Amino acid sequence: MELPGENESLWIATTNQTNYPTLSKDISADAVVVGGGIAGISTAYLLQEAGIKTLVLDMRRICLGVTGNTTAKVTSLHDLIYTHLTSHFGKEQAKMYAEANETAIGFIEKISKEKKINCDFRRLPSFTFTTEEKEVEKFKKEVEAAKTLGLPASFTTDVPLPFKVKAAVRFENQAIFHPRKFVLGLAKEFVKNGGQIFENTKATEVAENKTSVVVKTEKGKVTAKQLVIASHFPFFDRGFYFARLYPYRSYVLAVELKEKVPQAILINLKQDSYRPHSYEQKDILIAGGGDHKTGEEPDTTSCYTYVQDRVKKEFSVKNILYRWSTQDNYTPDKVPYIGKDIPTSKRVFVATGFNGWGMTHGMVSAILLKDMITGKKNEWETLYNPSRINITASAKTVVKEATDTAKELIGGKIKPRKEIDTKNMPNNSAKVFTYNGKKVAVYKDSKGNVHAYSAECTHMGCIVNFNTAEKSWDCPCHGSRFNTDGKVLHGPALEDLKKIE
Ligand code: FES
Repeated sequence: MELPGENESLWIATTNQTNYPTLSKDISADAVVVGGGIAGISTAYLLQEAGIKTLVLDMRRICLGVTGNTTAKVTSLHDLIYTHLTSHFGKEQAKMYAEANETAIGFIEKISKEKKINCDFRRLPSFTFTTEEKEVEKFKKEVEAAKTLGLPASFTTDVPLPFKVKAAVRFENQAIFHPRKFVLGLAKEFVKNGGQIFENTKATEVAENKTSVVVKTEKGKVTAKQLVIASHFPFFDRGFYFARLYPYRSYVLAVELKEKVPQAILINLKQDSYRPHSYEQKDILIAGGGDHKTGEEPDTTSCYTYVQDRVKKEFSVKNILYRWSTQDNYTPDKVPYIGKDIPTSKRVFVATGFNGWGMTHGMVSAILLKDMITGKKNEWETLYNPSRINITASAKTVVKEATDTAKELIGGKIKPRKEIDTKNMPNNSAKVFTYNGKKVAVYKDSKGNVHAYSAECTHMGCIVNFNTAEKSWDCPCHGSRFNTDGKVLHGPALEDLKKIE
């Protein structure tokens, strides 16, 4: 089915490609950051500014991953998080979360102003809304919880949308920006301050000893005192993050409207969202939604059509300019993991599980990790501690997600799947079939060439499924993704799918 718009993120299409070198020899630094998205580059920038000689490694070009494909809402209004935090973490910790995210908004604004990074930063109100009468009480409670924590919250039904809502939480003074303009600008500042960036440099192994941490890459190793893993899903996983991060995909359209674009950040509890963006001297609408667990949606093109149909129903659409998709990691208790990767770690830090709110949490990670590495006390540390256990806040999610993963790990392999004759597969189609007792992922391209790879994910062996809209093989267990030539697009898997002749 023909989908509308250019199949590329607007943020990537409207910025230049970076061209940092590839690491080709052994090197040392005070700190090494793996991952060149907003969390990695902001952390590296703050560390370098604090006098810590830092370098960044990215397995591709920087800022092409989740930060290059987000909707880029810069807000502390995260669905209905404050009722949840207050009841499961207590008022003190809920206040920390509010303070951390509000600080992050201010930091992005301050840095972009001071460093003259023209990233289209704009302050706007933010709304979480519902059209369901049965949810009104929940929204009222959220406003009360947020107000108690000192957040700029109010209850309203007056929302800049072309339909009526039953309730909304409104936060003042939130923001939007162009994420790649910001991160690429910050990367330049980091390099100007003496930092180094290596692209197309895949970190493959880590060894921590008493005096240093050594990160092995394909062509050289980095020896440093500290390592920050900001690779979205941690590529080095001794903290069992694979069992406590749940990857979801979501879909985005950049749309030109015939009418005025709402001047606000808007989202409902299904994660259907809108925000404006200034594009070629006019405002366009960035619409997001269609979320599903990675590797579990049999027809991902329908996720784009879901967003498209919704926008067309709610607005008068002139043109769809771009379409793209992204992936977020969710945590069972709804709070990210930012801090030491395991309790006994002296040198390895992690930033992951941003629950779809990576713009503010990327900057929260940078501020917190810079403080931890430079030995400055930061009160946010306990809340974000990756080794925390909060059973009441996590229980429901853990049971559901663990059952899903176990089903895929075991069921994916024993599920009877039919033998498939590739001759009868149409061009541009894909299937997983059984060959000599093994699962084989087969893609037949537009010219009829067959690309066959083992369907066993190289992370832990779950069976991958085809993503029709993005033309990739996606793993339903922990979200690894591979292109139709078996190459890793997204971790935790580090190795490509095995080719089948
Ligand atoms: Fe873990 Fe595939 S991502 S098994």
